[in-house]
Amino acid sequence: MRNPRDFFQPLAIGAPEPLREIPVKPSRMIHFLDFSNEKMVAKAADIATKTDILLGNLEDAIPVDRKEAARQGLIKAAKESDFGQTALWTRVNSLESPWVLDDLTTLVTEIGDQLEVVMVPKVEGAWDIHYVDRLLAQLEAKAKLDRPILIHAILETAQGVVNLEEIAAASPRMQGMSFGPADLAASRRMKTTRVGGGHPGYRVMEDPADPENPEADRVSAQQDLWHYSIARMVDACASTGTLPFYGPFGDIKDTAGCETQFRAAFLMGCVGAWSLHPVQIEIAKKVFSPPPEEVRFARKVLEAIPDGRGVHMIDGKCRRGGPPASLRPPRPPVRSIGRRRPAAGPLCRQPEARVSAAP
Ligand code: GLV
Ligand code: MG
Repeated sequence: MRNPRDFFQPLAIGAPEPLREIPVKPSRMIHFLDFSNEKMVAKAADIATKTDILLGNLEDAIPVDRKEAARQGLIKAAKESDFGQTALWTRVNSLESPWVLDDLTTLVTEIGDQLEVVMVPKVEGAWDIHYVDRLLAQLEAKAKLDRPILIHAILETAQGVVNLEEIAAASPRMQGMSFGPADLAASRRMKTTRVGGGHPGYRVMEDPADPENPEADRVSAQQDLWHYSIARMVDACASTGTLPFYGPFGDIKDTAGCETQFRAAFLMGCVGAWSLHPVQIEIAKKVFSPPPEEVRFARKVLEAIPDGRGVHMIDGKCRRGGPPASLRPPRPPVRSIGRRRPAAGPLCRQPEARVSAAP
């Protein structure tokens, strides 16, 4: 077991100190680009104005004979374009592939000061994160970087799902996780009709109204094949202060299906999703932006409960401290009163008392 006192020590001499908190920035969509396509390199700065995160994809979807071009194109785009506030990420090739070592060494050396996050595919356990963690520290030291590059794991194998709590807690570099339904379905022999979609055969059916006549019409509805795994990912991330994302929805034309999938992930606690086409940027923007009334209400809560503590009466209802869940940073400063206090005693303080205590 690693000495807990060493957890925040750099893993190489001269590497930057690990971060203690994951920066919470707009991250509603991670827009995937293939920079082996020269047109994409030319358009990168313009696309960056439309997305929260721009990701240079090097892994699946990039053909073997364009791997090198995708890496070089990403370097060119990063060196020649101004991405403003938009974060630059990359998805490197998987750890057993012949390209990943060059992906990491070249990118950190050439554009390490611009890369915020490295997305690592097919992570199976903490050991995969430990490998990338140490290597990044060595490369950061060599490149004299003053800020650590963070790691984002894709959850897309059955073994990764089994180990996801350990993956989330494997390193202070862990920024978050994305849910990868395409590879996960393949890894588990699931049957789905498209990437991120479900299956019309996966359903529940109401009990028969007449047990003697089970063939009579009964209501039946398609169920969500992904609920269990996304819920586990959200818990692993929420409990470690990292950020959960929904991954790809592969049917670009089915905008309603995409929006429904993104919204289910948002409601379960995900902060964003991947966009594979500009149309999905707009869907993610719509789904993952907190509604104005929620922002107004959050302001009201912050005014009434500036220290974010306890449970209070606001608008005639008993509310816990802190903003609504969708506006909260990954590790909420306030724990639920149920865990901090015994059940006895008044659960709600009156708002006036809190407001008058405001600075
Ligand atoms: C993403 O990489 C997926 O496999 O769904
Ligand atoms: Mg995948």
